[in-house]
Amino acid sequence: MSTHLAAEIKRRKTFAIISHPDAGKTTLTEKLLLYGGAIQLAGAVKAKRGRASAVSDWMEMERERGISITSSVLQFPYRGLQMNLLDTPGHADFSEDTYRTLHAADGAVMLLDCAKGVETQTKKLFRVCKQRRMPIFSFVNKMDRPGREPFDLIGEVEHVLGIGVYPVTWPIYRGATFRGVYHRQKREVHLFDAKKAGSSAASGAEVADMIVTGLDDPNLRAELDEQGYSQLREEADLLDTAGDAFDHERFIAGDVSPMFFGSAINNFGLQAFLDTFCELMPAPLPRIIIGGKAPTIAPDDETFSAFVFKIQANMNKSHRDRVAFMRVCSGRFERGMKVHVVRTHKDIRLANPTSFMAQERTIVEEGYAGDVMGVYDPGIFEIGDTLTSGPEFSFEEIPSFAPEHFVRAVMADPMRRKQLKTGLDQLAQEGTIQLYRSVEGLAGDMILGAVGKLQLEVVKFRLKAEYDVDVRLESLSVEFARWVSRTDGLPVDMRAFDRERVGTPCLDVRGRAVVLFAGDWQFNSATRTFTGINYAETAQGQKATKQA
Ligand code: G4P
Repeated sequence: MSTHLAAEIKRRKTFAIISHPDAGKTTLTEKLLLYGGAIQLAGAVKAKRGRASAVSDWMEMERERGISITSSVLQFPYRGLQMNLLDTPGHADFSEDTYRTLHAADGAVMLLDCAKGVETQTKKLFRVCKQRRMPIFSFVNKMDRPGREPFDLIGEVEHVLGIGVYPVTWPIYRGATFRGVYHRQKREVHLFDAKKAGSSAASGAEVADMIVTGLDDPNLRAELDEQGYSQLREEADLLDTAGDAFDHERFIAGDVSPMFFGSAINNFGLQAFLDTFCELMPAPLPRIIIGGKAPTIAPDDETFSAFVFKIQANMNKSHRDRVAFMRVCSGRFERGMKVHVVRTHKDIRLANPTSFMAQERTIVEEGYAGDVMGVYDPGIFEIGDTLTSGPEFSFEEIPSFAPEHFVRAVMADPMRRKQLKTGLDQLAQEGTIQLYRSVEGLAGDMILGAVGKLQLEVVKFRLKAEYDVDVRLESLSVEFARWVSRTDGLPVDMRAFDRERVGTPCLDVRGRAVVLFAGDWQFNSATRTFTGINYAETAQGQKATKQA
């Protein structure tokens, strides 16, 4: 194994920020870039978003709504490390892409609003991280504002998410006013300067100063008043005696999360977070593979390998391009190298792989485990594809996720049915939406399912832009889908669901049996009516069905 390869891998930290909209993800991202010296001015991420919106209609839609539809990767150096921050869309209507992107990360930062705690989108994203047993850091943001009691927040994270919390920093108050944090490991106090925070310099572009004293510092006593001071001492004691010591193994397994308190907009608490993050966040680890000579492939294996986790079409309309985003898992990538696509057994040359800094593209000359690059895709990739420079093997399947929104596509011009079918098939193959068609012998429309509502809008937009098909999307009274199979392995009698009116039987784009239900009441009557049937929330592990 080359020492160069090992050193490059060790430098890489590939992670995502998971949060509910408005918790401050854009702000935190921007501050991380600022600390890393990748940008000089606060506001640049948003400004770049604005500028990028001129690039294509796609971005136009993004700009109009002030939201981020696309997710890319922000690569920036920080203290000799190579940070790969996978950007996950921040709107409530996020998509399966967001989930898949997490599959390409090695860890996550969970960002919470101190007044709101664990919110719905955080919960959904957290579940994916937990499934993958990823290390997770927690940052409680907006501490400059009134928020919930810190013990209460910890309790919520522990109960709602089922993960232990280890507070690395702890908030300090004078009366109801936030005065800073106590760093439990360093036994230091970092005071928050509200006046300075309010000034344009500190809330803007500069990396914040911090005043550091010890817990015994008499000035601290004066600073906090008697009550605030004794509260801090009591809480610090309580955390030390009642809480567990930090357990590194449990952290790596995603069972305990180091927690930090601060204010992203005021650059407060970020340095403490970043220091610990750099120390604890693991570099790329071996990944599970199927059909290889071992059950995993190590990041420093000489064989180059990567998998496709996202395909984005129409990023630049004038080129009608499609970009496949891949995460490197082992070996060294060199521009122009020939790799093997396992699914199609074909060799291809990766000529102009691109990295994305916000929306700016740069050609990648080399890459190592943990890196993400976009490759021009003339339609040869699918989500989940494995690429390797050596003998064939595959990475684990990227899970599919349960759709939550269902619509029927109604065409303005019935003459374009064929184009609609081609377009929908293509978009479903790409993983933009899930597509269900009716079971043979039953009448029905093509039904679209998506994790986020916005995905459906994207489909409508792309059908028009790329296939010249105008569609109206009509909501259906479907609440959820279940992939069905029989416990005895025989084909499911799909038409029986229709006959008994206990669900809408369909086939997904890969011919797997799926039944759509209007609600729990209908699902319950289906389970009462038929016995010996498994109902799965996602298509994961399901096989194409032969209809009975
Ligand atoms: P998001 O990407 O997670 O959706 O959140 P974003 O960073 O856009 O932040 C949401 C709002 O919260 C923004 O205010 C932002 O300035 C504010 N914010 C972020 N961090 C902090 C913090 O530490 N303290 C306080 N008090 N506010 C914070 P906005 O008014 O919606 O937008 P803007 O006009 O500031 O851009």
